[in-house]
Amino acid sequence: MISLSGFRQGIKNETCPSPDRVKVLSKGTGPKELYVKKIRNGTVIDHILAGHALDVLKILGIDGREGHIVSVAMNVISKKQNKKDIVKVENRELKPGEVDKIALIAPSATISIIRDYEVAEKTRVKLPDSIRGIVRCSNPACVSNAEPVEPKFSVERQDPLRLRCYYCVRIMEKTDVLKQF
Ligand code: CTP
Repeated sequence: MISLSGFRQGIKNETCPSPDRVKVLSKGTGPKELYVKKIRNGTVIDHILAGHALDVLKILGIDGREGHIVSVAMNVISKKQNKKDIVKVENRELKPGEVDKIALIAPSATISIIRDYEVAEKTRVKLPDSIRGIVRCSNPACVSNAEPVEPKFSVERQDPLRLRCYYCVRIMEKTDVLKQF
């Protein structure tokens, strides 16, 4: 990992590097490009399916008015040469419930908690076979919307998302989920 000081020292032949696409020298493996600079503290959501970064922000309720510095890179080339999106939220660590929400929208994402430039925790999100309490059933007649019962869905497919309500068997897709956030 390159600390910020190493990161700055690694900049070569770029007197005024663009902040969103900075050329650095990695340790021994040749030049690399960082699309968004490393952060000091906060959360990095990486390996988001290309084009879905804004959905991740929506599901987290981040609209920019909270005052956190938020960086979004979309359709960047990953190490595996696939396209991916990245979201970096500075000075904010995600809570466990928020990680579960991200799994609904970005099942391939990794979440890194950054403290003092180091990756303090890193988890790959995982969508369980059934989910409870995160979203409501979109069927207004479902018993879970009328009675005090916890909404519950089986995950029939991760990508594209397909949930089946445990009570009324209504199918919910990603667009239905996003409408609730
Ligand atoms: N990161 C960051 N700021 C830091 C440290 C890391 O923004 N101070 C970001 C990295 O750019 C990366 C993610 O956090 O998007 C995870 O960091 P790391 O595990 O060091 O990166 P990689 O090994 O490249 O991760 P992966 O193998 O998951 O691609």
